[in-house]
Amino acid sequence: MKLVVSIMLCLHLLPSLLAQGPITPHFQAWLNAHGYEKYDFAREDIGLSGSFGGKIDDSEMIRNTPIVFVHGNSDSALQTNNFSTGWQMTVEYFLTQNYTLAEMYGTSWGNTSTALAVLRYHDCETVHRLRQFFNAVLQYTKATRLHIISHSMGVTLARKIVQGGRIKQPNGAMCEIVPPLTALVDVFIGLAGANVGLCACVNVDENFWPTCNHFDGLWPGDSCGENKDCAEFPLKTSCNVVEYSQYLMDINSPQAAKDGAHVFSVWSKDDDLLSLHVWGRETCEIPQSDGTKIYTGLNHMETKLNTTADQYYMITYRAIPNSTNDYTRNNQVTL
Ligand SMILES: *[C@@H]1O[C@H](CO)[C@@H](O)[C@H](O)[C@H]1NC(C)=O
Ligand SMILES: *[C@@H]1O[C@H](CO)[C@@H](O)[C@H](O)[C@H]1NC(C)=O
Ligand SMILES: *[C@@H]1O[C@H](CO)[C@@H](O)[C@H](O)[C@H]1NC(C)=O
Ligand SMILES: *[C@@H]1O[C@H](CO)[C@@H](O)[C@H](O)[C@H]1NC(C)=O
Ligand SMILES: *[C@@H]1O[C@H](CO)[C@@H](O)[C@H](O)[C@H]1NC(C)=O
Repeated sequence: MKLVVSIMLCLHLLPSLLAQGPITPHFQAWLNAHGYEKYDFAREDIGLSGSFGGKIDDSEMIRNTPIVFVHGNSDSALQTNNFSTGWQMTVEYFLTQNYTLAEMYGTSWGNTSTALAVLRYHDCETVHRLRQFFNAVLQYTKATRLHIISHSMGVTLARKIVQGGRIKQPNGAMCEIVPPLTALVDVFIGLAGANVGLCACVNVDENFWPTCNHFDGLWPGDSCGENKDCAEFPLKTSCNVVEYSQYLMDINSPQAAKDGAHVFSVWSKDDDLLSLHVWGRETCEIPQSDGTKIYTGLNHMETKLNTTADQYYMITYRAIPNSTNDYTRNNQVTL
């Protein structure tokens, strides 16, 4: 009898810990009533994994600071397939820590077609649409602050959304992302972002690979002084000045605002997608970071999937954990 009861309890508890998209009908109705319908934040073309977040009904309380998640190129909000694994693991971990889906929000940008990855860059339409998603979450939750967790190209998308300002596109078109969100972001986590570009983008034809374009793509610069090997570390001759993607130079500029009150850069030495050093600099390191966490043995996607407990630690304690799954040691971190 006891066994039956506990099995029933488990069956009852289980669904609440599974991250299920898309955004709730309550949030969708609110979006429709507030002029956001045209942005298609639900992204049901991708399936149930196209988005997540929202209250069940008006009575649901929001206790934790809401988190907005921004995924990388060819990924999706939640898990769509074995390659587009989304924020499934992170959201499910946070659900076990008493976060609710009324406090965690994600929408997909682009789609899960990896063949089209080279066509995606930080274009005005995508950045503007995601900026509107942040607006919607702020208004809907009535929160005064947000946390952001981002991965891969989601890092550089989210940083521009926070900082605001101009984007110049390859076709000459220009847009202004306004207003900045800087004062509203508490913790910003950037997992495996290509902040100073991608070495794979050296000397490629940007007509074929717009993702590498010089305006708002991931172009890292084609050389650095005498140095011709982007990924070399350390460089043969020192070189501090390199011209790279305007978009990236803007968000990394010494004049640029910090991306949140607490900024954390996270990457793995065994990333299989990025060359970590770009003309001698760590590409995953966000300028003005308050802390960095560098793993070994995780690939590009595992840096997002297998570090959920540490992401929770950074959000909760506003500090870098010493080792995975170890929170109990020292909770007296300075906030
Ligand atoms: C996805 O991964 C699972 C578990 O590793 C495996 O069983 C399945 O065959 C994979 N599916 C595809 C379509 O590759
Ligand atoms: C989650 O809530 C339960 C019930 O209120 C509480 O016992 C537990 O300690 C909470 N866990 C965390 C991580 O806050
Ligand atoms: C992704 O979008 C493109 C058009 O932008 C479409 O041709 C393609 O079929 C879509 N792929 C998937 C997997 O949805
Ligand atoms: C990451 O997590 C997956 C699924 O839990 C596991 O199969 C894989 O071995 C982990 N990777 C590492 C490097 O521990
Ligand atoms: C991490 O370890 C260092 C050195 O062992 C220690 O000084 C520091 O307080 C620890 N930090 C946390 C958050 O436990």
